[in-house]
Amino acid sequence: MSDDADVPVTAQQSPYERMGGHETFARIVREFYRGVADDPALRALYPEEDLGPAEERLRMFLEQYWGGPSTYSEQRGHPRLRMRHVPFAVTPTQRDRWLHHMLAAVDTVDLDPQADAALRDYLVRAANMLVNAPDPA
Ligand code: HEM
Repeated sequence: MSDDADVPVTAQQSPYERMGGHETFARIVREFYRGVADDPALRALYPEEDLGPAEERLRMFLEQYWGGPSTYSEQRGHPRLRMRHVPFAVTPTQRDRWLHHMLAAVDTVDLDPQADAALRDYLVRAANMLVNAPDPA
């Protein structure tokens, strides 16, 4: 049981705030895309020359998911992540590369153990959900 068991949910900090807010998410996606940029096999999936806009979209999405500003949906509409990934062959190998860079990015921020575990668990589940193609034979 957490310490705030008697505080109304509406008065509690969001996970986004507890995780450190914008700074934390900006750091995670910056580190993540640094990893993508250095990984030619994964980088090849990203359609745009400039990874900056993709970085911003992922940051806004994660911020919204964890209870921060809903800028993602204001700009992009309903996330529909599975549908939005259909144009890209997300194979088990690409998922593993994506997760490798993402979990390494999470390593660079100092989350409390509970938030850290929740974030990693979510990312693994989301990445598994987005696999949409087999590895080439
Ligand atoms: C499993 C491995 C994954 C691969 C290979 C992958 C690949 C991609 C690619 C190539 C794009 C297009 C870049 C862009 O223009 O934004 C994209 C977009 C996006 N991805 Fe992923 N992705 C993966 C997992 C995830 C996961 C787990 C999440 C969320 C937790 C996620 C969230 C997003 C978001 C929010 C966008 C932008 C969608 C939009 O608004 O257009 N992706 N992804």
